[in-house]
This record gives sequence, C-alpha cells and structure tokens, in this order.
Amino acid sequence: MIAAQELRIDSGVLVTALTTGGTFIRVVVPESNKVLYQNEELHKIFPDALQRPCYHFWGRTSHCEPCLSGEAIKCNTRQSATVHTPKGVTFACFAHPFVQQADGTRAALEIFRDITRERALEHAVEKTKLRLLEAQNMATVGNLAGTFVHAVRNPLAGIVLYVDMLLRKVDSNNFDQKTLKDSLLRIKDSATKCEEVTKNLLKLAKVQKTELKPVNLKEVVDQGLHVVSSKIASKNVDVVTTLPDDLPAVMGDFAQLQVVFINLFSNALDAMPSAGTLTVHGAASDSAVEVKVADTGCGIPRENLSLLFKDFFSTKGDKGTGLGLTQSRRIIQTHNGNLTVDSEVGKGTTVTVKLPYKK
Ligand SMILES: Nc1ncnc2c1ncn2[C@@H]1O[C@H](COP(=O)(O)OP(=O)(O)OP(=O)(O)O)[C@@H](O)[C@H]1O
Ligand SMILES: [Mg+2]
Repeated sequence: MIAAQELRIDSGVLVTALTTGGTFIRVVVPESNKVLYQNEELHKIFPDALQRPCYHFWGRTSHCEPCLSGEAIKCNTRQSATVHTPKGVTFACFAHPFVQQADGTRAALEIFRDITRERALEHAVEKTKLRLLEAQNMATVGNLAGTFVHAVRNPLAGIVLYVDMLLRKVDSNNFDQKTLKDSLLRIKDSATKCEEVTKNLLKLAKVQKTELKPVNLKEVVDQGLHVVSSKIASKNVDVVTTLPDDLPAVMGDFAQLQVVFINLFSNALDAMPSAGTLTVHGAASDSAVEVKVADTGCGIPRENLSLLFKDFFSTKGDKGTGLGLTQSRRIIQTHNGNLTVDSEVGKGTTVTVKLPYKK
C-alpha cells in the first residue's frame, strides 16, 4: 500500500478523489506512454487502456504536448490543467509525481474529472450576466430617451401650435403687432424649456460617463480574460498574452474599459467556433498605449467592414445584439483614444485599441 505522503499528494485530495463518483484515476509512465493502472470508473469507459498508449484516452494519436504527467515529474510537484478532447468533453486534470520504478523510470498518478456540464452551465450563467448588463445599459438609454421625450413633447407642441396660428394670420393678412409679439414670446419660452431639457440631459449623460483614474490595461485584460475563461475553455482556444508589466497607466474608467475588452474577446471567441488562437499584445509609444486583440477566426467580409459600428449590426441572429463594437468604440472615444478593426476573411481579425497616456 502506498502512502499519500509517498505520492506527495495532499491526503485531502486523495480521499476526495477516491470517494467521489465520476473521478478517474490512473498511473502512467510518460517516458513510455504506458498506463500501469486505472480505476474501475475509468475502466468502465476505456476498458483496454493498459494495452494502449496513455494519450489515446484524450483522443490523440501522438504524445501530448505538453505532457501534464511529464511536467509533474520534471518539476517534482503537482500539475493541473483543463483538457478538451476532440469529442467536446472537458476534463479537470491533476498529475502527481509518483515513486521511482525498479527500472529507474518514474510514473505519475493522474486524477481527472469530466467537467463538461459544469463548464456549459458556467458559460450560460456568464452569458446571462453579460446580457443582463447589456439590458441594463439599454434600459438606461431607454429611460433617458423616455425622460427626454416626455420633457420636450409639450413645449414642442406649443411651438408648432403658435407657428401654425401665426402662419394662418399671415396668410389671411390678419395680424397685429401685439399678437405677433405675444406669440413669439410664447415660442421663445417653449424653445427655452427644450434647451433646458437638452442641457440637463447632457449633464446626466456626463455624470454617467466616465470616472477617470489611472488604469493598468494589463489588469483590465487579465480580468476580462477571466470573465470569458469558460467560453475560452469550451472552445479549445489558445490564449497568448504579451503585455509588459511596466505598461504605462492610462487615465480611464476601469469598469468601462473592461466592458470594451470583454466585448472584443467575446467577438474573437465567437469567430473561432472550435479552435484557434486569441492573442492580446500590448505596447507603449511615447504618448499612447496600444493593445491589439487578434484572433485566427473567420474574419469579416469586406462589405461588412463599414457596417461594424452601426448600432444593431450583427451577423449572429438572436445571439448578438449588434451593440458590442459600437459601445466599445464609443467608450474608447470618450477616453480620447481610438479603436480600429483590420480583418481578412479566412485569416482572422485584429482590433487595435489606442489610448493616450501622460508621462
Ligand atoms: N473578431 C471578429 N471576427 C469576425 N467577425 C466579427 C468580429 N468582431 C465583430 N465581428 C462582426 O461584427 C458584428 C458586430 O459585432 P458586435 O460586437 O457589434 O455585435 P455582436 O457580436 O453581433 O453582438 P453583441 O451585441 O452580442 O456583441 C458581428 O456580428 C460580427 O459579424
Ligand atoms: Mg459582440
């Protein structure tokens, strides 16, 4: 009997693994790709594993790159990863370095669990959260529009009424100085009311606009990627981020900038239905920080490029509102930056966000 200590496994992990249904356990030798042992649970779904290379279980025809157990042995510590099989199953995996074998080779204990349904649920919850956020934004726009219409409807109707009356009097050549002045004063009064409403609305929009503070875009990107992490995992997409730690801070509203990057990541992931690479690259010049969000997805047809920033333009049917890019560009513009899109059908899309900073 091998002690948990000897396996260098936290005994809590081992007890949980051994007693939880749906947990698969096996012992593999990465050097020879051999499976030495597998538990009953695993045997039920993959009976002839001991006669086959360990990577067959993951639906692969060659050695895994990187090999989780190989890494665990090399680093002599527990490694974990999320693995997606070609059949669309997602596993949470742990590999623990194992005792030396008689022939000098080392084995690893692998413990893994099917988390496909959990991930799908998490994904659905995140999508709903984003939709709710969007709905709230739309509701705010709707409320503002409602307030505006309500406040200007009466004064505008008054203006039209007095102008009509004056026109009739002009037509019939029947107007005196007093009536004319009186009507013009009423028109001026109503127009002033409309002007007031417009000013207040602008004030309100400004209050809701931005709260500028130094923002580290690397943090915005990292947290944004975290929000879409289950969508990333469900698609077998590789994420490469190259943002220097010393990227200068930009003056901005963290939450709004995060909305921008979540929008861009979601679009990139939508464009790569099964696999691909999402690259986020950051660099600073003398006066601006540039972050490029690139995907290796389907790309955007030339004829659609001019429609991207039109409200409600979407090719995603009821899965998209068509507001993501418009909203993102508006936010970047209120930060005195700009957002541009380059795309080639079949190759992918790169969105560049450029934000100024002061030295
Ligand atoms: N990275 C991308 N790759 C391919 N097409 C893209 C990409 N980003 C945007 N698009 C295209 O631009 C359209 C508009 O994008 P936008 O983000 O504004 O709306 P959406 O993604 O359709 O809906 P949502 O409001 O949910 O974001 C998309 O429907 C898609 O056709
Ligand atoms: Mg979008």
